[in-house]
Amino acid sequence: MTMNWIELEKIAQEWTYEAANIIKDSLAKPIHIEAKSNPNDLVTEVDRAIESYFFDKISKTYPDHHFLGEEGVAEELESLEGTVWIIDPIDGTMNFVHQKYNFAISVAIYHEGVGMVGIVYDVMSDELFHAVKGHGAYINGKELVPVKERPLHESVIGLNARWIVDGKHSYRNPLLALIRDVRSVRSYGSAAIEIAYVAADRLDGYLSVNLSPWDYAAAVILLEEVGCQASTFQGEPLMLLTPSTVIVGKPHLHKEMISAYLGEEQ
Ligand code: IPD
Ligand code: CA
Ligand code: CA
Ligand code: CA
Repeated sequence: MTMNWIELEKIAQEWTYEAANIIKDSLAKPIHIEAKSNPNDLVTEVDRAIESYFFDKISKTYPDHHFLGEEGVAEELESLEGTVWIIDPIDGTMNFVHQKYNFAISVAIYHEGVGMVGIVYDVMSDELFHAVKGHGAYINGKELVPVKERPLHESVIGLNARWIVDGKHSYRNPLLALIRDVRSVRSYGSAAIEIAYVAADRLDGYLSVNLSPWDYAAAVILLEEVGCQASTFQGEPLMLLTPSTVIVGKPHLHKEMISAYLGEEQ
């Protein structure tokens, strides 16, 4: 059966708005917070409830579709064959816990490894970034125009300062040089929102030394629709089943950041 991706995007949007209401209702009550891999890697019962919400909807409505999510509600996925939903129930959990602001629901639908539908919903600012492959990218129904390039020295890029002060990874010096050369850096605390901001021309680029597929799967579909690029720091395609470095940006800036700063094997 051929899928109508535009119809499927509408359904994914409806579920996203419903999930956002569950999140907003949860803000009125005390939220139970746990740490995962380290004391700053937070998860709440709301992250798990939202992932379960999507898993239940998808498995009941589309029993032949597959599911990949951050909180492990579904069995581990080993291939991207068929139709796969890649979901981050809350991207920016630290913001959700500390600010009750600046977090997103990220929903991507891939078919045979190709991104078909991408939704990033900034819940508290009520901004829905959405795209269907080949049909343009939008914010709340308003089409985004193909991005304009700025030279690197006039570019504003998103990155997390923690990776530089940490000093323990080999990208420290190239990142320091890049930060010195661009106009400025911003750190919003949600990779999905930051990548969506590149598509919306609010940032010129964004990079991270370590992201998981659910952090970027939806947002990179928006990027393609406005002519931006996404890859690993070495310029390789993003794999979607394993964590990696991620660099996104307007095409010339993306190329320059890799060739002049990051591309050499560290
Ligand atoms: C995190 C956010 C953050 C990024 C981290 C991610 P989470 O996702 O996207 O901006 O720097 O690497 O893990 O855990 O809040 O879904
Ligand atoms: Ca997390
Ligand atoms: Ca995330
Ligand atoms: Ca998350």
